[in-house]
Amino acid sequence: MTNPPGTPPQPPGLETQQTISAEIAEIRDAYGKAVAEGGPRRDHPERDYPPYRSSVLRHPKHALVVPRDPEAAELTGPVFGVTDVTEIDNDLTRRHLGEPLGERMLVTGRVLDRAGRPVRGQLVEIWQANASGRYAHQRDQHPAPLDPNFTGVGRCLTDDDGRYSFVTIKPGPYPWRNHHNAWRPAHIHFSLFGTAFAQRLVTQMYFPGDPLFDFDPIMQAVTDDSARRRLVADYDHNLSTHEWSLGYRWDIVLDGPAATWTEEGR
Ligand SMILES: [Fe+2]
Repeated sequence: MTNPPGTPPQPPGLETQQTISAEIAEIRDAYGKAVAEGGPRRDHPERDYPPYRSSVLRHPKHALVVPRDPEAAELTGPVFGVTDVTEIDNDLTRRHLGEPLGERMLVTGRVLDRAGRPVRGQLVEIWQANASGRYAHQRDQHPAPLDPNFTGVGRCLTDDDGRYSFVTIKPGPYPWRNHHNAWRPAHIHFSLFGTAFAQRLVTQMYFPGDPLFDFDPIMQAVTDDSARRRLVADYDHNLSTHEWSLGYRWDIVLDGPAATWTEEGR
């Protein structure tokens, strides 16, 4: 197929979406067959997932090196106190003089342990692209506009119910170079700090009904259908605000059978 006039030429050496999608389907079918035959369900992806090309090159190939004194890592790791996190750190729309462009929204949910108990006082950090799908980061140079009123980072502490909440704008999808015409579904990156830096967990939240889910090898790396669904927030009309913002709800379960996939697979 010929690209429309004005679009960048196809870089040489990149696979087509068709090839990537065929690999995704093959791995999903193999997983489905293994589960049907009594194999274990797997909430976490393999660390090397071939359709996600760079994971093959950079995934850990050796066991984790645990320092002789694990607590020593905490002496030099980042720390924070409750006074470091201020009231408006969770509002990404109030960081600049003007308001960012995009759909204003509230994203909220609870951080829970395997028994459904709230995880309180948890540092939750997010980072995301702007409404045009561009990160305010020097490595992101694709031709979509930066928004002078949006940086795209926020943080908060969970309350006594384990609840976090952020006011932000809906991020746009963005292209990446995994293969030709590769686009990431809109997503927000989440980090949960734990009680020490070595416990930090990182994951991504998606938006319901995104047409890019099936094409994205990062999301599809979670081969289990129900585990993958748990990465998608629910639109909650009761969280939407009259003439102001839309509302999404997304709970994060740290472990157990309903766990949310995290990037380190712990
Ligand atoms: Fe991203």
